[in-house]
Amino acid sequence: MQKIMNGKEASEEILEKIKIDTENFVKKGLRPPGLAAVLIGENPASKIYVGSKVRTCANLGFYSEKIEKDKNIEMKEVLNLIKDLNEREEIDGILVQLPLPDHLDESMILEAVNPQKDVDGFHPQNLGKLFIDEPNMVPCTPLGIMALLKKYNVELKGRNAVVVGRSRIVGKPLSLLLLKENATVTICHSKTANLEEITSKADILVAAMGKKAFLTHKHIKEGAVVVDVGINRVTDIEEAKKLYPDDEARWNQVKEKGSTLVGDVFPPAMKEKASLYTPVPGGVGPLTIAGLMMNTFLSYSQRVK
Ligand SMILES: NC(=O)c1ccc[n+]([C@@H]2O[C@H](COP(=O)([O-])OP(=O)(O)OC[C@H]3O[C@@H](n4cnc5c(N)ncnc54)[C@H](OP(=O)(O)O)[C@@H]3O)[C@@H](O)[C@H]2O)c1
Repeated sequence: MQKIMNGKEASEEILEKIKIDTENFVKKGLRPPGLAAVLIGENPASKIYVGSKVRTCANLGFYSEKIEKDKNIEMKEVLNLIKDLNEREEIDGILVQLPLPDHLDESMILEAVNPQKDVDGFHPQNLGKLFIDEPNMVPCTPLGIMALLKKYNVELKGRNAVVVGRSRIVGKPLSLLLLKENATVTICHSKTANLEEITSKADILVAAMGKKAFLTHKHIKEGAVVVDVGINRVTDIEEAKKLYPDDEARWNQVKEKGSTLVGDVFPPAMKEKASLYTPVPGGVGPLTIAGLMMNTFLSYSQRVK
């Protein structure tokens, strides 16, 4: 039986549908959806993420704008830039790539974004809507995970869902979405005293901790659905052999490219005990960008005239 939940495939399906919907709107004579990505500073990972978001926009027929600013930009200038983007008709989504340089006030910047254009779903108004069961713009990774669970017909109603991690971008919003679908949700974090006792009762187990292969056999119930959000780099070949005992391609990756990736769940445990699970990479990762495009298209369809 196929146990892998293929995030790449799920993401491609979502994006294909958005592309077709966009074409249909444009055929009617409407403008395309527009996304502005604000990149401040020289963080190499941020550059890669923004580059890939802008490329995805182009593939979907969206208008997009990459706005790059010097790392020493002043707060006032960032706020003016956001104000301008808030006012521009053709921009449906504004994303400010995080992390920001230390001197900038992240909360103030995220709160300056018009909630209607807040395609990352980080504005307090959107988080509040999620809290009162009226989600609109939802943080992208949880949004993508919910789409994946739906694609694989994972029953949520009445089932025990355990989310390990309570961050604002993954754990907390995902817990609220699972709760909305009538799962019985438990949130664990670094101060949870009896982690194994709780996770081993989970029908749906989500690991969003950022701790390399931390959850293992004893944490997973036989037949559980496991969603591994973690992305951790493995650079030691002996470690890669322990994590992926049957996967020589991974060892070669470390040898040839210097690293491979692993999530927050020990891969052999997930493979042996789960009924369905997300691999790393190729599981949750591709769905984050799909979530962003879903939010941008949603904003567009609410705004376009
Ligand atoms: N696939 C994707 O697209 C995607 C998107 C976002 C994030 N990620 C990855 O997902 C992981 C989590 O990201 P994040 O931004 O949510 O991380 P984060 O902000 O660092 O939050 C980590 C959470 O895990 C909890 N935690 C840490 N150690 C723990 C332990 N030993 N036992 C139980 N809970 C523990 C922390 O608890 P406290 O609150 O008590 O500190 C915290 O709530 C990272 O690896 C990140 O790279 C992937």
